[in-house]
Amino acid sequence: MNAFNRLFPENEPVIGLAPMAGFTTPAFRGLAAHFGASYTVTELVSARGITYDRGLCRSLRYLAPPDTFSHVPFLNFPASDNAASIINKRPWGIQLFGSVPADFAAAIDLIFEETQLQTAAFVDINMGCPVPKVAKEGAGAALMGNPLLCGRIVEAAERAASRHGRFITVKIRLGLDQASINAPLVAKTVVSAGATAVTCHARTADQFYSGYADWPRIAQVKDAIDVPVIGNGDLVTAGDLIKMRNETGCDGFAIGRASRGNPRLFMTLRRDLNLCSDQESRQDESTVLDSNRLSAEAWLQIMMAQLDATIERLGEAVAVREMRSSLAFYLKGFPGAATFRSRVMKPETRDGVVAVLRDAADSRAKHM
Ligand SMILES: Cc1cc2nc3c(=O)[nH]c(=O)nc-3n(C[C@H](O)[C@H](O)[C@H](O)COP(=O)(O)O)c2cc1C
Repeated sequence: MNAFNRLFPENEPVIGLAPMAGFTTPAFRGLAAHFGASYTVTELVSARGITYDRGLCRSLRYLAPPDTFSHVPFLNFPASDNAASIINKRPWGIQLFGSVPADFAAAIDLIFEETQLQTAAFVDINMGCPVPKVAKEGAGAALMGNPLLCGRIVEAAERAASRHGRFITVKIRLGLDQASINAPLVAKTVVSAGATAVTCHARTADQFYSGYADWPRIAQVKDAIDVPVIGNGDLVTAGDLIKMRNETGCDGFAIGRASRGNPRLFMTLRRDLNLCSDQESRQDESTVLDSNRLSAEAWLQIMMAQLDATIERLGEAVAVREMRSSLAFYLKGFPGAATFRSRVMKPETRDGVVAVLRDAADSRAKHM
């Protein structure tokens, strides 16, 4: 069995959390893992930046493992199988970007010399980020234009990762633009160089996030390689997952935007796929976590768990600001939500944020 497949229970769909800069923080990854994400991945971190960051002082906050929430009673039921043990069982990876093979090798050595990061199961290489800051260095999605370099990067990264008993996965797009779609070729190249799984976001780099993900192209990647292919792009419902699997034969799914403000999505998808594990069924019975009946109090507790874990890591002032964009996604989908989204942008303290969230929970309770 392939090293990536070995991370997951057999006969369970692989539904991972896609990396998202600014959102897939340790706190959010911990919540996603708790609520059933098969795996989680950090946001993209510069391989070269790590090599200049002795002691990983600046990078550690991004590279850190998913938070475990062992001290949050709400997230610790059933008592015998608490959040910390669930989260610790979920594999997680670190995503690196760069354009120089030696940077990846050096960064991987530094990462796995750091005690806190030794629970990471794999290193994911970003070949899909289209933002100019990354692409202008020839990194991220720009690599799709240079398959040979993609291969050299994976070779160097794989050699380093295997010294530490870890493996490499790669995340690609379809190509630079419609005229140069080459995802099957890039996938073949990185697998020959040692990648053990490939995630394909079915858009070209120049599309950024516009238009629709072109799922049939994922089938072409699947046909080209013999390691797991994780399909990505526009997945929201269990019906989407089923449709993507039927159209592409993909081996798993990565969910990005739809999970923002809703880490429980992974549990909802599993339930809707009728593939809940016993443990998740038990959680469902508690009613607290049932997707349609989530109490306002439980919803509040999830937001506060993320807020408090972020404060613990970054301190109150920084955490309160950085949580704003995430909280804006929680504060959606009920009458008057826009008012709370604008209110939550203002407080500079935990108490101030919690007051807004409590009002939002009260208002949501009246309408649900
Ligand atoms: C705000 C934001 C940040 C992202 N950051 C990353 C990143 O750090 N690394 C990466 O590989 N992809 C990143 N992505 C892309 C997502 O992982 C994913 O490929 C894309 O959003 C399509 O999946 P979705 O339709 O499920 O969101 C980001 C996407 C968004 C919206």
